[in-house]
Order: sequence, then structure tokens, then C-alpha cells
Amino acid sequence: MAIRNIVKDGDPVLAKRCRPVEQFDARLAQLIDDMMQTLKKANGVGLAAPQVGVLKRVFIIDLGDRMIEAVNPEIVKASGKQRGVEGCLSCPNIWGYVTRPKHCTLRAYNRKGEQYELKLSDLEARCACHEYDHLEGKLFVRLVDEYVTYEDE
Ligand code: NI
Repeated sequence: MAIRNIVKDGDPVLAKRCRPVEQFDARLAQLIDDMMQTLKKANGVGLAAPQVGVLKRVFIIDLGDRMIEAVNPEIVKASGKQRGVEGCLSCPNIWGYVTRPKHCTLRAYNRKGEQYELKLSDLEARCACHEYDHLEGKLFVRLVDEYVTYEDE
């Protein structure tokens, strides 16, 4: 496993649409393991492959007690609304309010190519939508309706 460099806003790789994963092989497993290690080190909640410079449809979310690995994910259902503060490891020190669905259903594959569906709510739903947007080349900043400043005393 290796910690990968996290790409920052302004890098064109973050504005591109990612390609579907076609081979569920050792290389994919390595990418996911590296992303998990990178996310832990960065103390983040979610990480998408383009954030480590790889234009593949893969993201991970740390739920605290477990990690979700989502390959070729789709948000197949979304309902309700929630407004809350988001940040992104690719946009250091930028925080802002974003409105997202309150509930969503994530359909994706794991590294072995097994499909699953997960119902997510609140922070988990917010995170899945944020990470999904990365695969479409979209950063959360375009959805921010109000920026937040955290000042040290
Ligand atoms: Ni992000």
C-alpha cells in the first residue's frame, strides 16, 4: 500500500469525467487500498479516484466503523433535502453550505465485481453525492450558496 498525492483544485484532472472500471483486477484493488490509506492519513471522510489523479469511476467513504468502496457507482434514488457545510480534501481551507438529498440509494460494485445497493441518509448521503460529483468532474464549490470562515482566536 502507498499513500498517494491528493490533487488540488486548479488541476485539470478534477474537471474531467471519469471512465468506468472494466477490469476488477489486482490493479484496481491496489488503487482502492492506496485510496483508503491516503484518506486515513488525510483524516477525510471520502475520496474519489480523480483526487489521486486516476480518471476511473471509483470512490470510497469512511463511515467510522467501516469503509464503503464504490466502483462504477450510481445514485439510483434520491429524496428529501439537507443543507449543511462541506469541505473537500482537494480544496483546502474552503468550507461552504451545500444542499443535497437527505436520502439516497447507492448502487455500485466492490473490488471483486460484486454489485450491491446501500441506502444512505444524512452525512452518508451527502458524502456519496459529493464523491459521485467528483467522478463527473464537478467540485462542491460550484454548489456552495454561502461560504463559511473559521477563524482562530
Ligand atoms: Ni471532495
